[in-house]
Amino acid sequence: MSPLDLSVEELAKVLDLANDIEKNPEKYAHKCDGKILATLFYEPSTRTRLSFESAMMRLGGKVLGFSSANSSSAAKGESVADTVRTVSCYADICAMRHPKEGAPLVASMASEIPVINAGDGGHQHPTQTLTDLLTIRSLKGRLDNITIGLCGDLKFGRTVHSLIEALVRYEGVKFVLISPEELRIPDYIREDVLKASGHEFIEVERLEEAMPSLDLLYMTRVQRERFFNEEDYVRMKDFYILDKAKMALAREDMLVLHPLPRVNEISVEVDADPRAAYFKQVQYGVYVRMALILSLLGLGVDLC
Ligand code: CP
Repeated sequence: MSPLDLSVEELAKVLDLANDIEKNPEKYAHKCDGKILATLFYEPSTRTRLSFESAMMRLGGKVLGFSSANSSSAAKGESVADTVRTVSCYADICAMRHPKEGAPLVASMASEIPVINAGDGGHQHPTQTLTDLLTIRSLKGRLDNITIGLCGDLKFGRTVHSLIEALVRYEGVKFVLISPEELRIPDYIREDVLKASGHEFIEVERLEEAMPSLDLLYMTRVQRERFFNEEDYVRMKDFYILDKAKMALAREDMLVLHPLPRVNEISVEVDADPRAAYFKQVQYGVYVRMALILSLLGLGVDLC
């Protein structure tokens, strides 16, 4: 499942449901009584796995799963397809993170139950995108007519790829792509998504140059696990550090988002700035995953 599988109207309904869950959590506390979520994580995670588990528990359901490939029979050579066929006997819905691009899609074709992509390699991170969209819409009041700066590792940062693909579906969104030359956005996103959509976008290297024009700044960490050699990672890792001095260049109502985890790219001194919205973003991740679980189980928004 990807936000791109949903129409803009369906997406709006999922976000509305998430906002209702935020306001009236007690209404939803038993919606998933008797249901089980499996979290199949072949790669490390804090937020995605635990927010899925928290979401299911807040809906009255139960959870099972594994948090690394080594603690599952993948370590003995079992295929993703066989694993998910097995898990289909134990659970009603599953969320999968995998280092290989497309693995959750392969899993969904072998599965009897809904499979949610919880991040596949450097490709996509659809539920982070739902989280980002909910955060932007809730805090800015709109998803259209925004200027968003995406900063850092735009090459390997799967959250950036998913977010761009989602935002080109809204009118008047302008993109400022801020990265070093070596970490620029992949060609397929530049050509097939940005250029093909007709949306305005520019690519720059200096964050300071971009700051004054932004409604939103989406920071990302340099993805160490996707680099082929450590030397390149060390050279790139501190290319951008958002600090108080750079925040002083931004508008008073600009918001800073980050999918987290952060390493050094946002100084902790920024956390106290009212424009720092990344921990609110974490909270929205639970509401939107609750809305998604309900909808995929036929208990929320009707998704065709
Ligand atoms: N944002 C995100 O995917 O965080 P985790 O890697 O901790 O799940």
